[in-house]
Amino acid sequence: MKLCFASNNRHKLEEIGALLGADFTLMTLQDIGCLEELPETTDTLEGNAEEKASYVWDRYHIPCFADDSGLEVEALHGAPGVYSAMYAGPHRSAEDNNRLLLERLNGKENRKARFRAVIYLILPEYRMKFEGKVDGVILHEPRGSQGYGYDPLFLPDGCTKTLAEMNLEEKNEISHRAGAVQQLVSFLKSLR
Ligand code: IMP
Repeated sequence: MKLCFASNNRHKLEEIGALLGADFTLMTLQDIGCLEELPETTDTLEGNAEEKASYVWDRYHIPCFADDSGLEVEALHGAPGVYSAMYAGPHRSAEDNNRLLLERLNGKENRKARFRAVIYLILPEYRMKFEGKVDGVILHEPRGSQGYGYDPLFLPDGCTKTLAEMNLEEKNEISHRAGAVQQLVSFLKSLR
């Protein structure tokens, strides 16, 4: 089955491509000729995922899914959450976001956090939502150079490596996005 993943994030395309397996041909926005920026105007992960998938479906009529994900920090009342990418400003710098996160957590004892991912799927006869989560803590200093975003600061519960110290395979075993994608894949396989 051909499915468009409505994202321009190279890391995510790689991560999700590895999880989907050979039964599915993952098409990018470029592959379907969608070169414009997708809207992300809501204030929830769920709303943004639905908005992006609907944008592609309405204009291109291709089975598609979109995701939105973010880091929710307990002591910051769920921030940066849906604003994770632009926490330190619209320039979307992971380094600046991580620095700001450490600043905001300075002096706070509670370092609990959670990555959450939501996927919204649109097929001609279905609209479905899937969610994955991974719990962990925010370290005091970054560790590791793989992955992206807040990976170097996030130590998943029960792990000795941060997400940025894990290779793709290790990250995919536990990640929020992998959890959501696995549900997506199970659903797609159940349709056959
Ligand atoms: P997106 O809009 O789904 O790309 O995610 C928003 C932001 O959440 C990203 O730019 C990252 O800052 C953060 N984020 C989401 N997933 C991850 C992850 O797996 N590792 C690190 N940061 C992530």
